[in-house]
Amino acid sequence: MIPWLSKTEDNGKKKDIVDGKIETPSTQEISMMNFNRSTETTSPDKSFSFSQIMESNPYFAAGGGLMVLGAGLSILRKGVMQLSHLMYRRLIVDLEIRNSDKSYDWFLNWMSNCETRVSRQLSVKTTFVQHENGSVSTGFSFVPGPGNHWFKYKKAWFHVSRERSERIHNSGQPMETVTIKTLYKDRYLLASVLDEARQTAMKMNEGKTVLFKSWGQDWRVFGKPRSKRVLDSVILDKGIKESIIADMKEFLASSKWYNDRGIPYRRGYLLYGPPGSGKTSFIQALAGEFDYNIAIMNVGEPNLTDDRLAYLMNNIPERTILLLEDIDAAFNQRIQSKDQGYTSGVTFSGLLNALDGVASADEVLTFMTTNHPEKLDQALLRPGRIDMKVLIDNASDYQVEKMFMRFYDDAEKLAIFMERFRELELPYVSTAQLQGLFVRFKESPDLAISNVEILRKPHLNNFFYE
Ligand SMILES: Nc1ncnc2c1ncn2[C@@H]1O[C@H](COP(=O)(O)OP(=O)(O)O)[C@@H](O)[C@H]1O
Ligand SMILES: [Mg+2]
Repeated sequence: MIPWLSKTEDNGKKKDIVDGKIETPSTQEISMMNFNRSTETTSPDKSFSFSQIMESNPYFAAGGGLMVLGAGLSILRKGVMQLSHLMYRRLIVDLEIRNSDKSYDWFLNWMSNCETRVSRQLSVKTTFVQHENGSVSTGFSFVPGPGNHWFKYKKAWFHVSRERSERIHNSGQPMETVTIKTLYKDRYLLASVLDEARQTAMKMNEGKTVLFKSWGQDWRVFGKPRSKRVLDSVILDKGIKESIIADMKEFLASSKWYNDRGIPYRRGYLLYGPPGSGKTSFIQALAGEFDYNIAIMNVGEPNLTDDRLAYLMNNIPERTILLLEDIDAAFNQRIQSKDQGYTSGVTFSGLLNALDGVASADEVLTFMTTNHPEKLDQALLRPGRIDMKVLIDNASDYQVEKMFMRFYDDAEKLAIFMERFRELELPYVSTAQLQGLFVRFKESPDLAISNVEILRKPHLNNFFYE
């Protein structure tokens, strides 16, 4: 029922209550009542003079007519407006997506590829395409810019308006919203549009590892998604890979066990050892193997506060490994700032609190790396914070052999290489150094053998250190 219509009806008709029932008087009764009222309340003299004036003066008559017409039109206009508003509310559904939500980018990208799109305002988005050989080329896609757009999906039309506000997010980006409108009867299609947009985005990242870095208050995608690193490309000492993979598998399969016992469902790994031994590469390969993304945080970052750290650690993107690189930096800074009389960055207790406080319905996998395990505080090494510590050391003979075979796959040459390598009696050699040598002479195992001396001077290969 349209409100303004029902109102005039109610006002126009007088209701009498007879035996507890509301009886609406008939039109005849109304005219009788009005007649009676007018004879009772209006003085005959006055009504006479008014009607006389109205009749005798054509201007007044015309003015009165116009007034009635004007009032009628204004009521009609108001009515039409209210009716259209009501119809709008009944027939149209809007869905608002903010740019703080993940589906915002998914939807814009999906719409930029939508063939039925009608847009006059476009924005350019540079896209990256990674080829089989790892090289990257860039391209452009036109996403709907701020303004109005239309698209058709499964025979239904959708209106999209993208708006940019003056306000700035915590992350430093301006706040934006996209509002999608459609007919009420097609509302169920909104969910399938968003679902399709999500799946398209997922497909684009299939076979890729997405890196996130902390940015202001939030996580932001860092660079382009990288091709997954294969586990076989990282060569660790015997049994190390297998033991970590087995532990992760067991952890990921025991969510019920953790939940039943009220234990936070998280696991922390510490990989320690000299630089260039493959710690970071191994974590990347693990992420690829388990189909996870990686959120990297540098605990030593000077403008990272305890609050920000806690917030970030509690808001890790889905299916993402949290990677805290060079965790000892947090402790160096603590000593340094004490000496210099100021405090900056994350405090040790802030880090412990953040690690303990991570509460999530989903699993939380934290990997930490350090080149200086001796600098770490014992409190950090407690189970629950770090559950598994693994030394990733300089290359063992086993690793040297495996690496040589991975590059040249030549057993005869391997025997010669190993002989020359042992003759050098190097105290240590990192896997990164070995990689440096083999990449330099990638065409020829003989050249790698004759240049094995290079391994004495690790700085020559320094450009391979990340
Ligand atoms: N065990 C390894 N197996 C394969 N590649 C390695 C290994 N160790 C180091 N590398 C190579 O050396 C470079 C540096 O390795 P990285 O993982 O950054 O070492 P870390 O994090 O231990 O300092 C990378 O290009 C990586 O491919
Ligand atoms: Mg590293």
